[in-house]
Amino acid sequence: MFNIARRSPQCPRLCRSESTALSQHRLFYQNKQLELYAAKEANRLTLRQLTFFGRSMMDEDRLIKGANYVRTELPVRIAHRLRDMQKLPFIVATQEGVAKVYELYWTAFDKFRRYPPINTLEDNAAFCRFLTDILHEHSTVIPTLALGLSLSSPHLSPDDLDSFMRRMLVSRISRRVLAEHHIALSEMHSGKQTPTTHGEPHVGIIFTGLNVKRCIEKCGNILRQRRNYWPEIQIDGHSETSFAYIKEHLEYILFELLKNAMRATSSHHRTASTLPPLRATIVAGANDVGVRISDQGGGLFPTMVQTPSDLFSFSHIRNAARLQNSRIGALRTLSSSPHGMRATVDEQVGRWQTLPSGNHPDGDATDPEVEAGVGPHPRIGIGLPMSNIFATYFGGSLELVTMDGWGTDVYLRLPKLGTNLEGIEV
Ligand code: COI
Repeated sequence: MFNIARRSPQCPRLCRSESTALSQHRLFYQNKQLELYAAKEANRLTLRQLTFFGRSMMDEDRLIKGANYVRTELPVRIAHRLRDMQKLPFIVATQEGVAKVYELYWTAFDKFRRYPPINTLEDNAAFCRFLTDILHEHSTVIPTLALGLSLSSPHLSPDDLDSFMRRMLVSRISRRVLAEHHIALSEMHSGKQTPTTHGEPHVGIIFTGLNVKRCIEKCGNILRQRRNYWPEIQIDGHSETSFAYIKEHLEYILFELLKNAMRATSSHHRTASTLPPLRATIVAGANDVGVRISDQGGGLFPTMVQTPSDLFSFSHIRNAARLQNSRIGALRTLSSSPHGMRATVDEQVGRWQTLPSGNHPDGDATDPEVEAGVGPHPRIGIGLPMSNIFATYFGGSLELVTMDGWGTDVYLRLPKLGTNLEGIEV
């Protein structure tokens, strides 16, 4: 692997073996390309535009146009993050994990930049295979980056570290949304995918009538299947609420929030014969859909963090758990796992079913744990920060209110009109 520490803005991939005049010239040219792309603005979209364009893509010309938008947009978004990484302090850039992600992104940038225009349905089928391969190659990016940034935590201010991580993660979600949406639309166009899954209509990866109660029940059932001693969920409020959203994102968030609430409840009431249920209240407001999840899990004790939102932080100053050996070790294992991160709750369950079932009511750091999209592992603390990023991606929010000695309420708010642009950080 090239040494990120020796690159400079003129020679982004400079390494000892490439120090000839010829390779210097090539590298200078490559970084000129990066600058060209990084200077362009990302063409951000709203959920509504993604749905609208998706509907029109049943027409062949529009599908090809969409493919070329993805082909030219992704290298711009990757270039912005490569530029960000080039600005990191030397000591951070050399950390295990950071250099690996830089290399992955550089390679992807180069491949997209060189990818020829798509003119036919055959070209598009090849492009979808190309996208699928890259999505797979990048499946370890999150644990790898979390490892790199946890190790870098002593060398960056908490604000710098968290804003860098946020840009990396928002941008990654945005790129995966564009790639996965295009693949799904192409499959619908070719008849490989139907416009409904389990009776729920969708356009590409956007479910146009996503039923919130059903998502809560699904995630709750999955979690309770694995653990006998986890609490029930009582759902109230506007329980018929449905809206247009990316199902994977909503399920990821709900799975993580319910898992945390269930674990805290069963741990806090470990000697009781019955557990107080969680309460999930759904509210359909004029502009937003809200979900409040209340547990009686004893609250978040201020041992590791001072405020609940510090749980979203990757800095050890805000969240001391970031430098725990068990977490670093688990991130290291995950970042070199051939499976990488499972992207969805459904994929997660598929993998989970191959494992022996267990009932670990306490869920401490040595308990093989499951996070949506991550796979079984010792707890690594990525689920909550990722849920926050997913919630805010189209302008929603996630807030935690804790009552020490009683329990925690989590407030999730997601915009329901689909008119907000993707996060500025794409
Ligand atoms: C990622 O998953 O990190 C990506 O950037 C994927 C994208 C290039 C399709």
